[in-house]
Amino acid sequence: MSVGTGTDSVKAVVVLAAGGGTRMKSRRSKLLHEVCGRSMLSYAVSAAAALNPEHLVVVVGHQRAQVAEHLESLNETVTTAVQDEQLGTGHAVGCGLKELPEFDGEVVVTYGDVPMLTGETLQRLVATHREGGNAVTILTAEIDDPTGYGRIIRTAGRITGIVEHRDATEEQREIREINSGIYVFDAPTLRAGLAQLSTDNAQGEQYLTDVVHYAHAQGRSVGALIIDDIWQTEGVNDRVQLARMNEELNRRIIEHWMREGVTILDPRTTWIDVDVALATDVTLLPGVMLQGATTVGEGARIGPDTTLADVEVGAGAQVIRTHGSFAVIGENAAVGPFSYLRPGTQLGVGGKIGAFVETKNAVIGDGAKVPHLTYAGDAVIGAGANIGAGTIFANYDGVNKSTTHVGEAAFVGSNSVLVSPVDIADGAFVAAGSAITEDVPAGGLAVARGRQHNSPGWIAKRRPDSKAAKAAAASDGATHPAVTESRGKLKG
Ligand code: UD1
Ligand code: MG
Repeated sequence: MSVGTGTDSVKAVVVLAAGGGTRMKSRRSKLLHEVCGRSMLSYAVSAAAALNPEHLVVVVGHQRAQVAEHLESLNETVTTAVQDEQLGTGHAVGCGLKELPEFDGEVVVTYGDVPMLTGETLQRLVATHREGGNAVTILTAEIDDPTGYGRIIRTAGRITGIVEHRDATEEQREIREINSGIYVFDAPTLRAGLAQLSTDNAQGEQYLTDVVHYAHAQGRSVGALIIDDIWQTEGVNDRVQLARMNEELNRRIIEHWMREGVTILDPRTTWIDVDVALATDVTLLPGVMLQGATTVGEGARIGPDTTLADVEVGAGAQVIRTHGSFAVIGENAAVGPFSYLRPGTQLGVGGKIGAFVETKNAVIGDGAKVPHLTYAGDAVIGAGANIGAGTIFANYDGVNKSTTHVGEAAFVGSNSVLVSPVDIADGAFVAAGSAITEDVPAGGLAVARGRQHNSPGWIAKRRPDSKAAKAAAASDGATHPAVTESRGKLKG
């Protein structure tokens, strides 16, 4: 059996996605709401694509412009079919088929709002269909509370039809085997069955489920794959279900990474998107959210309370209480606590971005340090440079943004403002409190601030009875020992 290898693919997958999603109470299409970092619709499209179908059709209706635009952004080639009025699942499939040429072979039908359904399950469904030589094969599940679902009707074990909850008798409502709404059909049987549909039912809709009865009545065999993992058949209709779905998928993602060698201290407060990749011996502390295409290298330690979206973290790096997006953190680098890494931040190997530092479009070389209270925007900082506490890279003059360059092993003293565009060359030294507006040559010293002027005896004259005056009077006038010691070090 070659199912899933792509050599014997199905003819078409029709994804139903025209419904209103009114219970979401959202301006955004329900299908664009995300579960673990991806839209519900993108899961449906990925699962469908795993069957390598000749045609992948998404039937759109409500908020169709949004949905169509989103489909364009996905990697798969998708045909869209429009269902103007939602006249039922049977009608919706008909709208999908209308976009395709006539063909024999298999048609898989799925929903756009069942995010946990995997391509592997669809492959198993197709395999079951082929093994049974069926005209229809239904993905079913046995659940404790089947209220609302279509029930699978069996006679002597063989499926004869599906009855919707609202059309079911009391006795039929006792049946716990439900229709997931996901099927494989023989295309000609499906077409013929759809042509026969009526709206003579409780909802006045064209039920796709009636094709099952049609196939049985034609003497064709109908089969089922009963799935144990009922999450894979669950749809999302409101934000309560959306939260439950996120929680369950996150739980599975976290379990996966723990089995791959990641330590996660508090799985309940850790959120990892489905496309994140983690290496072995990564440690995640409580309150960590890893989003988008974030990757974390071996032995890195993230958290607590850190959100990284589309960030690449190198092996051995430490990232504490940080918010970062579209950034690269080098191997063995240190970030945080309380750091804000905005897009275009690239921290080199062994570099440091420390407390209350904001970076944007800043390339910081290997071993360079931006340890405290700094804004570094549009900056290029050389390897081994040191940026003093409270340095501001003034990159914006109110009209334009420009770049500041700090050379290799350069030193910028505390509370300096570097007014861009400006170039502080390799090994240069900027004195603390400088406002740098001109380039500094390699190895040069720049002092750009007023000189200090002392007025001895000023306190005694102006504030004679103050506690400062008393302290001054009692002082022997000597420099504080700790300062003397520091000066000694400077000279030595
Ligand atoms: C349908 C099945 C039911 C099954 C249940 C599983 C029918 C008649 N019933 O019920 O047996 O247990 O799914 O969830 O098929 N849609 C369209 N156009 C339409 C109607 C629906 O695109 O005209 C789409 C919806 O967007 C949704 C899916 O089809 O993604 C299912 O529709 P929904 O109304 O939720 O299904 P039910 O009628 O509850
Ligand atoms: Mg319905």
